[in-house]
Amino acid sequence: MIINADEPRYSIADPYPWYKWVQQEKPVFRTSEGMWMITGYEDALMLLSDPRCSHWGQDSRTFQYLSPVEKAIAQTLHALAPGNTPAFRKQIMHQLAARTLQVDEDDMKRQADKIFDALRFSSRMEFMSDYAHPFTFGTICRVMGMPQEEVDAFSKIVSRLQGGYLSFIDEKSWTNGGDEQKKTFIDTLRRLIGLKRQTPGKDLCSAILAVVPADDRNDSYIISLMVLLFYAGHQNMMNFMGNALVALQGRTEDQSMLRESLPFAISSVDELIRYDSPLQSVLLITQEPIHLHGTTIPAGSQLLISIGAANRDPAKFDNPDQLILTRRPNHLGFGAGAFRCIGARLAQIQGGIGLHRFFAHVSTYAPVADHISWSHFSVQRGPSSILLDINWNHEK
Ligand code: HEM
Repeated sequence: MIINADEPRYSIADPYPWYKWVQQEKPVFRTSEGMWMITGYEDALMLLSDPRCSHWGQDSRTFQYLSPVEKAIAQTLHALAPGNTPAFRKQIMHQLAARTLQVDEDDMKRQADKIFDALRFSSRMEFMSDYAHPFTFGTICRVMGMPQEEVDAFSKIVSRLQGGYLSFIDEKSWTNGGDEQKKTFIDTLRRLIGLKRQTPGKDLCSAILAVVPADDRNDSYIISLMVLLFYAGHQNMMNFMGNALVALQGRTEDQSMLRESLPFAISSVDELIRYDSPLQSVLLITQEPIHLHGTTIPAGSQLLISIGAANRDPAKFDNPDQLILTRRPNHLGFGAGAFRCIGARLAQIQGGIGLHRFFAHVSTYAPVADHISWSHFSVQRGPSSILLDINWNHEK
């Protein structure tokens, strides 16, 4: 990348000044890796739904260059493409819609309160591992139909894997090496599938099994799909919670409103996602040349749709760098088009309850050190750790 004297340095702690510069100076920006980065809201929205672009995993020319794990992710995503059979997408979307969600709001509240009951005798907490992880992973376990008595043990295995379990999506990796954690993880999913085959419930695992033809016992395929769902549901939610906590620091009025009203907290989730999106980009491949702002992007190019930048586009949002919880933004944090997030409703409910219960228990918080370390994994954005000093609210 040629560094321009006026160009702000990209910073993982705060990428937004750099995004703003790119948005103003080069609406179609060529990165040093040869990708075409798109930062404007209208351009991003148009391209995410444009039939001239395909999702990165669905492009046959790109596929051969992917790593085994990326290939497995792409194939699993393909299983979710609209219109494919079995109709996983339709079934999963139905199951994750608010009215059919097996895990109700009271259940999520109880889970959050249980975590705080165990933490409240300490004046410090590590927000990501003490609260964000058990709350979000516990929720996706229950949505999936994991028996309650297995949730804690499974959640502990996953916390030791530090989010790295997405690599388990590749079936070939299951038999490699003597990795006990991986074996336990996959065995737990196999047991869950066996249980739901015998006794189906109103959960996501049963819903997936219901659309697999009875003569197709290919559990590997279903396990990969479940790894993707666990990961997508868990990692994005963890990052959401961490980003929200950072954004809300010192904003006592916002904190009071989140504490007092659950509906307000649920409806604030979209603005928090707009302000600091857990997934910063979506990668597309152009199928034919695309002309945009006087530039021709050739067919077969990688298009990096920067939803993080688009969500701060002043042409779309007034005062985009301000967090305004009463705003009801039409943001791109859940993506758009055929591959739009299928867990968006669950994310809104869960995110709202997670914050509402945090502020119900905690009256004030402050990071112990000024420095927050940010995770560098791919297109995701979230703090890897936030150690907090806490003052508790003792009447819940
Ligand atoms: C705040 C939380 C969340 C955010 C910001 C988020 C964001 C996104 C985005 C941007 C995409 C599109 C990715 C792409 O096209 O490359 C996506 C896809 C997806 N999300 Fe979410 N997500 C969240 C929570 C969830 C939850 C709770 C689930 C539940 C299981 C979930 C399941 C999925 C799945 C399965 C896909 C792939 C969809 C497909 O293949 O069409 N997400 N998410």
